[in-house]
Amino acid sequence: MEAAQRRAAALVHEVLRGRSLATLLGKAARGGDSDAALVQELAYGSLRWWGRIEALARQLYHKKPPRAEIRCLIGVALYQLLETTAPEFAVVDQAVLAANRAGFPGAKGLVNAVLREFLRTRVPRLAALAGDEVARYSHPAWWIARLKADHPQAWQDILEADNARPPLSLRANRRRCSREDLLAAFLAQGILASPVGESGLILARPQPVATLPGFVQGWFSVQDAGAQLAAPLLGAVSGMRVLDACAAPGGKTTHLLESAQLQLTAVDREPGRLARMHDNLARLGLAAQVRAGDARDPSAWWDGKPYDRILVDAPCTSSGVLRRHPDIKWLRRERDIEELASYQREIATALWPLLAPGGRMLYATCSVFRAENAQSVDTVFSRRPDARRIALNLPGAHEGQLLPAAREAAHNHDGFFYALLEKT
Ligand SMILES: C[S@@+](CC[C@H](N)C(=O)[O-])C[C@H]1O[C@@H](n2cnc3c(N)ncnc32)[C@H](O)[C@@H]1O
Repeated sequence: MEAAQRRAAALVHEVLRGRSLATLLGKAARGGDSDAALVQELAYGSLRWWGRIEALARQLYHKKPPRAEIRCLIGVALYQLLETTAPEFAVVDQAVLAANRAGFPGAKGLVNAVLREFLRTRVPRLAALAGDEVARYSHPAWWIARLKADHPQAWQDILEADNARPPLSLRANRRRCSREDLLAAFLAQGILASPVGESGLILARPQPVATLPGFVQGWFSVQDAGAQLAAPLLGAVSGMRVLDACAAPGGKTTHLLESAQLQLTAVDREPGRLARMHDNLARLGLAAQVRAGDARDPSAWWDGKPYDRILVDAPCTSSGVLRRHPDIKWLRRERDIEELASYQREIATALWPLLAPGGRMLYATCSVFRAENAQSVDTVFSRRPDARRIALNLPGAHEGQLLPAAREAAHNHDGFFYALLEKT
């Protein structure tokens, strides 16, 4: 366990210095780490609860807080003591060993003292945090304030859903098998899953995707149930010209292509993400015209023929997907919201002229902040005489805003926003 604690602490330290956990874990996996599953669980869990852990740890440091690497190691051990069933004595002993191996002078004694002090005084210390919202919900204070303003009735539910462990949600590839066939293939191996949406399923217990039957054969993709709404909402039918303007790594592109025979152009600015899109298209047996380009500058990649459907899955704060990416709440700054909202407006404005009369544009984000969603759409489209917003009837959503929810399978999705515009 001590090596996993040290590795997880190093990951948390890197995230707090501004790096994305998914990117860091991608590199760790390529390095062939035998403790990978435990390291991942400790890193994700610690970051999910980092607001509470830091508030607690501040009470426990008698002198000045230790250096960041040691704070992260203490944080990972506190996560284990607070949220897991790992035996307490093992967590503390191993963390002390990890501190010793990390080689910082004095770290071993400090880690030992802080963790044992926590075990002795846990109840009053946790009680002392009762009125501290950052500790209670483990989100930055500005984030909580923003949710209160944007969702006065639902902010606590959102914060709680953000801290829930996400399910593994899949989408059957209708070109290769039906959802029923997929459920039966899983059941034959003792893997239980329930249907969600038109083509989705949610596993009763998450497991590594590569161990599921049919992954290599392209029978399914991993995709949250909320993201699976994009393709049906866009309503593209066979023969249509479709643009997916912020497409990589292709979760929604592939769904669109599975649903109908389309002439689909997929554009993205990031060549690294487009490489993953090519892999996904190949695995699923699908084809699209893939272009590296900036959606704000169509002249560089557009062939001049209008599209019947345009999907703008705009880059955003990703504030709706915290249960899958808990590092995001510590990486974002409040000013990112306005910067991204203005960027989203530029993309939507640049793409509108590419839409054929009678055509439809679906604007989507995986954010729960109004500035990126309803406000962005209103700013771009409310005064355009040729744009009509079509009301969406999404169960559990209000004006296209789905909030992250963890309770019932039918609404077990991340936070998303959808707005459908028609060119009149
Ligand atoms: C939300 S992600 C897209 C996810 C994708 N639609 C899917 O379902 O898998 C947003 C994407 O926008 C891309 N992007 C950011 N700015 C862009 C721009 N100016 N033009 C085109 N793509 C851009 C990012 O590289 C990123 O891949």
